[in-house]
Amino acid sequence: MPLLKIDHQELEVAAGSQVLEAALAAGIEIPHYCYHPALSVVGSCRMCIVEVEGMPKLQTACSTPIGELPADRKVDGKYDMVVHTESEKVVAARKLMLEFLLLNHPLDCPVCDQAGECFLQDYSFKYGSAHSRFIEEKRVRPAEDLGSGVAINHDRCIMCTRCVRFTREITGTDELFVMDRGYSNRIAVFDGLPLDNPLAGNVADICPVGALLLKDYMHTTRVWHLSHTESVCNECASGCSITVDARDNKIYRIISRENPQANGYFICDYGRYSFHKYADSPLTRPLQRTKDGWEMIDWDTAYRQVLEQVQATGGKGAVRALASPTFPNEPNFVLGQFMARLSDRKNIALLPTLKEDDQEFPGGFRISGEKGGNLRGVQAMVPGLAAAMKSLMRGEPGVLIALDGDGRAHLTGELKRLLELVAFKVVVASMPSDLTAQADLVLPVATPYAREGTMTNDKGLVQWLQPALHPAGEVRPDWQVIAELGQLLTGEGHLYTCAGDVTWKINQTTPGYSQITRFRLGRTGQLSGSEAA
Ligand code: FES
Repeated sequence: MPLLKIDHQELEVAAGSQVLEAALAAGIEIPHYCYHPALSVVGSCRMCIVEVEGMPKLQTACSTPIGELPADRKVDGKYDMVVHTESEKVVAARKLMLEFLLLNHPLDCPVCDQAGECFLQDYSFKYGSAHSRFIEEKRVRPAEDLGSGVAINHDRCIMCTRCVRFTREITGTDELFVMDRGYSNRIAVFDGLPLDNPLAGNVADICPVGALLLKDYMHTTRVWHLSHTESVCNECASGCSITVDARDNKIYRIISRENPQANGYFICDYGRYSFHKYADSPLTRPLQRTKDGWEMIDWDTAYRQVLEQVQATGGKGAVRALASPTFPNEPNFVLGQFMARLSDRKNIALLPTLKEDDQEFPGGFRISGEKGGNLRGVQAMVPGLAAAMKSLMRGEPGVLIALDGDGRAHLTGELKRLLELVAFKVVVASMPSDLTAQADLVLPVATPYAREGTMTNDKGLVQWLQPALHPAGEVRPDWQVIAELGQLLTGEGHLYTCAGDVTWKINQTTPGYSQITRFRLGRTGQLSGSEAA
């Protein structure tokens, strides 16, 4: 392997890797705009220039490969390349480059949504000048709507072309291109062909300056007022890693979080904007159906009703349950545990959820068609779940306990028949849905972005779901509600005080999950089962 000396550090790097990649991997910062690890290298912004010993001119670190020199030509007798990232020559050139990029850039940081996370701002602190030598009139062009909720502010654009390469290489949709040349060039879409693909929001995420913006987030808050919670998207079985940005218990935006084992660098727009559907009127108190509609009741009354109904409609042996792939592993595990005690898991089946075709993109990104995000997890938590729902159609009418699908339940003919058959329906849900509309009792639990626990994606990757919000009203955690129902019906106490307790129990008892602990999951998760091998 080539030996690289970069400033005062020695690094052994893979032959053929670029200087910028090697530096970033070693934690050495080299300013850059146009380079993005998921996109092709164009070397156009010239911010990453470095000095390479033996080369007459400064080189762009993003496009300078590191090779191995013959033994007799090594620098200082041992190095294959010696790079200086902060020499006088480099710093002077970067200052000039930044001055050039900022020639037409407006001084509008106070109203720019990128402020606080803008590469131009950051590098200006280090390489910028307090005064501009540009005395000509600045180029001023109106902002434009590109489509799919993305707007462009042309005046801030530095033509790094990350967005153009994204639509060419990742989505393969080619909506964006560079129009005109030289001083007049700008990012554009063709007439009548707006930016229109399910990953469009990523162009705003990867824009290193404030040119491309999500209209949904524009002018709503400042980034330094937001808390940033690392969590997992629930919307399909791909289980993308995300960062949930919230303030005052309200989500302002969801952005992608890098995870090579899950989503790479991007997320889809369904996941990005999914928080809106959970913001409107989530359930906040237990609800009981009455002759005239719904009545709010307290938790004790709700649990008393469950017990009375179980006794009146066939006893504990007639209790049925539906585990849900839209909930984390923990409530499903606890549900499986107490159903094993009540009926040896003969009366538990899987809630059907929406299924579509997978969407694959040329850049390798995939949106799973399985809308029950934790399908693989729930199948591991409750062994034998594959049993058809018709096994629940026999015996006394009884009580049904269903974990709702947050609106993603698929009311199949079988599910409708089951709902007609049972005498009393308890639905554990966070949002009103087609299923809660048929319930006799609704028990409110936290919405997906207020939940805690583990989710297993369709590749077997288990990730920790971190709550970004506090649950509203009298809502309780899902694992707790199921554990309390279990205690009520089995008469046995439960030992769980937090979601992590249940995760630990899963670790101890579930095949394939012996490597899964809160600590080991870290930021990017851990493979479960045979995948771990
Ligand atoms: Fe290397 Fe832009 S990052 S030239």
